[in-house]
Amino acid sequence: MQEISPTTGSDLDYITAITPPDGTLPPRASTPVTDADRVDLDGTWQFRLSRSAVAAERHDLAPGTDGWKDIQVPGHWPLQGFGDPWYTNADYPFPVDPPRVPSDNPTGDYRRAFTWDKPVEGRRWVLRCEGIESIGRIRVNGVLVGVTRGSRLEQDFDVTDHLVPGTNLLEIRVHQWSAHSYLEDQDMWWLPGIFRGVSLLERPDGEIGDLFVRADFDADTGTATLRIEATEPARIDSPELGITGRSSGETIDLPGAEPWTAETPRLYTVTVSTAAETRTLRVGFRRVEVRDGNLLVNDRAVQLRGVNHHEFHPERGRAVTPADLEANIRTMKRHNVNAVRTSHYPPSPRLLDLCDEYGLWVVDECDIETHGFLHQDEEHGAWTAPWKSNPSDDASWKPAYLDRMRRMVERDKNHPSIILWSLGNEAGTGENFAAMAAWARHRDDTRPIHYADDVACEYVDVFGEMYTPFARMDEIGRRLDRIDPASTVDTLQDIARRRLPYLLTEFGHAMGNGPGGLLDYRALFEKYDRCQGGFVWEWRDQGLARPLPDGRIGYTYGGDFGEPVHDGTFSIDGLVFPDGNPSPGLLEFKAVFAPIRITVEPGGDTVHIRNLRDFATLDDTEFRWTVAFDGMTAASGTLDVPRLPAGTAVTVPVPATPPGDGERVVTVTAVTRSGSRWADAGHEIAFGQAAGHRPVPAPVPTPRPGAVAVDAVRAASIRLGPASFDTGSGALTRLGGVTFTSPPRLDLWRAPTSNDLQTGQDGSAAARWRRANLHALDHTVLAVTETTGQIRALTRVAPLARSFGVHVDALWSLTGDPGEVRLSLTATPYGAWPSTWPRIGLRFAVPATYDHVTWYGYGPGERYPDTYSATRLGRWSAPVTELQTPYVVPQENGARGGLRHLTTTNGHHRLDVVAESELGFTARPWTPEDLTAARHHHELSPGPETVFTLDIALDGIGSAACGPAPLPADRLSPRTTELHARLRVHTAG
Ligand code: GAL
Repeated sequence: MQEISPTTGSDLDYITAITPPDGTLPPRASTPVTDADRVDLDGTWQFRLSRSAVAAERHDLAPGTDGWKDIQVPGHWPLQGFGDPWYTNADYPFPVDPPRVPSDNPTGDYRRAFTWDKPVEGRRWVLRCEGIESIGRIRVNGVLVGVTRGSRLEQDFDVTDHLVPGTNLLEIRVHQWSAHSYLEDQDMWWLPGIFRGVSLLERPDGEIGDLFVRADFDADTGTATLRIEATEPARIDSPELGITGRSSGETIDLPGAEPWTAETPRLYTVTVSTAAETRTLRVGFRRVEVRDGNLLVNDRAVQLRGVNHHEFHPERGRAVTPADLEANIRTMKRHNVNAVRTSHYPPSPRLLDLCDEYGLWVVDECDIETHGFLHQDEEHGAWTAPWKSNPSDDASWKPAYLDRMRRMVERDKNHPSIILWSLGNEAGTGENFAAMAAWARHRDDTRPIHYADDVACEYVDVFGEMYTPFARMDEIGRRLDRIDPASTVDTLQDIARRRLPYLLTEFGHAMGNGPGGLLDYRALFEKYDRCQGGFVWEWRDQGLARPLPDGRIGYTYGGDFGEPVHDGTFSIDGLVFPDGNPSPGLLEFKAVFAPIRITVEPGGDTVHIRNLRDFATLDDTEFRWTVAFDGMTAASGTLDVPRLPAGTAVTVPVPATPPGDGERVVTVTAVTRSGSRWADAGHEIAFGQAAGHRPVPAPVPTPRPGAVAVDAVRAASIRLGPASFDTGSGALTRLGGVTFTSPPRLDLWRAPTSNDLQTGQDGSAAARWRRANLHALDHTVLAVTETTGQIRALTRVAPLARSFGVHVDALWSLTGDPGEVRLSLTATPYGAWPSTWPRIGLRFAVPATYDHVTWYGYGPGERYPDTYSATRLGRWSAPVTELQTPYVVPQENGARGGLRHLTTTNGHHRLDVVAESELGFTARPWTPEDLTAARHHHELSPGPETVFTLDIALDGIGSAACGPAPLPADRLSPRTTELHARLRVHTAG
């Protein structure tokens, strides 16, 4: 690479300028396919990081070759060995003093020499920067061409006059902090750098200029119309649409064209040409309106089963590749996601192309968040003047706000998938937002406007909210909400807002184990036509990968880079893990929001099928049934289902099958008939299941009279058939050949989940459990008695330092099977319990050689009181290690429910548990205490035991980390509970 001296510059005011970018061309629609030339400048650049802008300037004064290293563009410098990432949610990582930023302002100099042999006559060459965080000062061959502002916004610079034949030098000086950082306080890692592509685009004289595709669909008449506005008069052709040689600006009626919807993403290829250039567009026809209180697409009120999508890759951060994005989209489609909010900035244009092609409704969000202003002016512990000095209501920032909106709308306006413009996120309200909305409406009258912080809905078309509690949503659904909840009279604004459709901009905070309660939200979406769905927060855990010394990969969160101010684990809140693998939360989402509802009637003789799609029939779906007895499939086939248009339902019979032994379970699945871009043929979309009858459990024995107290001092152990008990504790220590390294005893603890820990709308459940000392239980034996064939242990289980507890009455008896004992246990709380219980169950451990579990019950994944929709009754089998859900932040996980029968084996002995009452289990290679203490998943390592819990009940999950706690019905309030089970040991051979 030839060395060219960089020029010097000294005026640093551009860093604190609150103006829009300098030197840019007007934004225009992104057009991926044109016959104009393009030179890709991505790849290896040279890079030098300076501590501050001044230090970078000093380098300019003494130019040299030292200090330059290679770096990849696109990319973030902290993820390529220069400096560190920094995570905050709402806080600015610098003092709030706009427009000033710290003088310790990491500054990255990027440079790239390239050979230029393209013609410049009769054309312009435009340097396109798709994304630079935070600002980039650009020089070409030493000449300043401009400054980018707006990290996630495309910016073009005409560099024709600065290019020379032969070697050219492009230099981009990127500052981590700028005045515009105040507008970019999204909840994510601060990751400076040139993180999207850089290219040179040819613009031949006579090129088309900007294009605005108006592709409308009138559902009443079934007619599509196309009008393409172009800067230069252009010719329009589309053999597919029967268009030949029409003109830009003309309205073309297309009676036969099919509409675009997220369910039927029909795109047509259209070319637009002038003598100088031809562009190829993918056009989708649809009409979006807010009418009669609903958000309509092609005249139907759509249900948004959406996710909030940040661009994130554990190694590349926001420098995502088209393949990364496509993998996300495929995973979304496979899990019944039908909508994306591009939280909280316009995404890579590639994502929008993919949403057009695969079919996803999109809310395109502007790159604005000033959340850190919410927390200003704390006086005596109260937020007395939230949003003080917020730029959103400061006219001097208006040009920057408008520029951001304009850049988003102009770039993205031709995507049929975008049905709403969102003005930004958590930036309070103010005149600048009102101005953005007015501008957008004027420029594009085909899309309504969303912004959740316009609480009074003064300038938006849909009412958006976050993490709304269920009771309030019910009020909203009935259109009885008031802007001021404390008020008792309706204002005109209340009345106006009630006419708007309602979207949950964010809900179902998917932090750690969860979100719970999606079914409760679904019930409200289905009950009220006003509630048209929403977007789960969020798609992916934003955990950055860190290679560990042992070769494994660990995932990091706030604080792991020594950030002095950070928000800890709050970035680990996705439906997929950092590596893109679905978490149980996504499986729950898939089941809850499946667009097909399959209800197998209790006897299993008929099945009710509802098509919950908004547009499409189920012609692409096949329905399969199976009948199983005790989990073993006995018969299966395909159902005859008549044509089901959107919104209709039918009940069809399940073929009669011969009777069999054991529990009869009928399962019906809906699967794709043929393969598509996102799924193979046979991909399951939804399932429904009905268990016939469960064999009635054997009657519970009553304690026999005449029991003799066991003398714990004289006798070390007592026997009951195959079982040995410790006389001091009354605990089972051995059964046949199985030794319990920890004998079964009552447990109330669980490693708090992220939802348990956070102080959400309902305070922290985990804090209440800790105050109750549920992590420190004493087990005191009150009595152990023996009669022929029975042993009874009465125990008091109570937290240290507390006067409440649980009395446990455990009765062990023989069943007649020589290898078996029966346990009948009653747990009765006493005293004034101040909290719920995390769980109640029996915990025991066996040597780690028992490393495999087979069960008949619900599976294959985890299941909690308010997260169970994805699990089904069947026979499952897994190594203990695979029963762990690898939440980045260790916490309660992996509970299986509806247990009928469980077996664990070490290859030699086999321990069976047969449930005779409602039971679940966990099996872990570490203890609940290890799980509680670990801060990262990789800190957990298997110990010498396999630790089981047999769970009588668990507390719900909820989404209190940022949202409602579980509903009362899903809470585990202290109550008398019972456990009935048979334990049996087999020895191989
Ligand atoms: C919302 C915010 C998101 C995220 C979420 C909590 O208030 O819009 O960006 O911070 O809370 O994870």
